[in-house]
Amino acid sequence: TKGFVREITLPQVHDARGDLTFIEGGTHVPFTIQRVYYLYNVPVDSERGGHAHRELEQVIFALSGSFRVKIDDGYDTSEYWLRDPRRGLYMSRLVWREIDSFSQGAVCMVLASHHYDETDYFRDYSEFRAAVAQ
Ligand code: TYD
Repeated sequence: TKGFVREITLPQVHDARGDLTFIEGGTHVPFTIQRVYYLYNVPVDSERGGHAHRELEQVIFALSGSFRVKIDDGYDTSEYWLRDPRRGLYMSRLVWREIDSFSQGAVCMVLASHHYDETDYFRDYSEFRAAVAQ
């Protein structure tokens, strides 16, 4: 099975007092959110990710600043620049991702379909590639 990504645009309530964006599990995100985590104080030359997941689905957002997400489904690669807090990138299971080019002060928020589980990770690329080919 091949993994896939797609962009998600969240609602925005705009008025003179500022902008408000909201996320409801199952509505704006195609899973029940079981975990939220965020990356911050990230050095600009830092590389994060470098793994894929057996079951986990995630949506990643740049709440502040920007960064690049490099995607590899085992066959094709693509890249996305996240810089708008309304626009997220949904990643299914079996997607190898690398995140870099963080701007100063960037905040990367991730919504996840399951609690943290190290056994769900592929940290070895060839192991990931073999699982995709099955
Ligand atoms: P990792 O997923 O490798 O980070 P990234 O993909 O952002 O580069 O996780 C880094 C460390 O943090 C690792 O030791 C596991 C731990 N961690 C948790 O304890 N809970 C979590 O929800 C996450 C995402 C990571």
